[in-house]
Amino acid sequence: MKKENDKIIITPFVWVLTTFFLLLGGGSWAEQKHIALYAPDSLTGTGVLKHILPRFSLKHNIRVGLAPIQAQADVVLSRQKEGSPAFQSGSEIWYVSVQGEGASDFAETFRDWITSDIGKSAIESFVSSDGMTFSTQFDVALLTPQETELVDVTLGHQIAMKNCGRCHAIDETNRKKTIGSTPSFAALRTFQDWEIRFEAFFTLNPHPSFTQIEDVSEPFSEGSPPPISPIFLTLEELDEIIAYTRQVIPADLGQRIQLN
Ligand code: HEC
Repeated sequence: MKKENDKIIITPFVWVLTTFFLLLGGGSWAEQKHIALYAPDSLTGTGVLKHILPRFSLKHNIRVGLAPIQAQADVVLSRQKEGSPAFQSGSEIWYVSVQGEGASDFAETFRDWITSDIGKSAIESFVSSDGMTFSTQFDVALLTPQETELVDVTLGHQIAMKNCGRCHAIDETNRKKTIGSTPSFAALRTFQDWEIRFEAFFTLNPHPSFTQIEDVSEPFSEGSPPPISPIFLTLEELDEIIAYTRQVIPADLGQRIQLN
């Protein structure tokens, strides 16, 4: 009688355990996506890969292992001018290339990610223990030092704060004072065509009713005065706002907005 009882208790328990291990083991092996990345020590040593690779793995469910030698890698990060430019430190540009003939789709997923806005913002958010950072703004970074000095965005920041900051979060400092439902500049920056939208913002709702661009907009009609205190800008000032917005790091896709 006692034996019978044991059986009744133990059997379902063993069955549940076995099923659990089968699911756990079988499932995760089948779904394990994996690529091997090679990068020279001078890059791994900065810690940037530890910073960005988990973000990639989390997003795409693909694990990235480091290959000890380049020949064993699916993807290579190097200063050899091969593949696509990915990021830059000082005057050194790092390229990403997918390697080998039967290179996997996962390797291509990695290349596409690291050169996307999200990959770029992951790279730009990294600061090494000795203060080193990477840039992904090749158009700005590739300029000669003298030209770079001309790209001063403080004026653009001020103009944006004063005119747009009532509604849009320009950066963290005015986020709390803005209207939550209005997209932040970082969110607007996620649009591929953000620059076109900024160039034309005064024609896009809700702005026309309260915005005038000197020599461009028609004056507000007498019958419908601006409902709120109006914005007056010159095209030069709008250019300054755009120059500032260009270096705003796009918000993560998780926060991407839907405009009406
Ligand atoms: C009174 C509030 C307010 C002010 C001031 C304001 N905006 Fe906006 N803006 C909005 C709202 C609300 C939206 C979202 C509209 C929507 O969801 O369609 C928006 C959207 C935008 C968009 C995206 C438009 C589209 O349809 O793609 C741009 C670009 C933009 N604003 C730029 C600016 C700039 C530049 C300034 C300052 C010069 C500014 N805004 C000032 C409220 C404002």
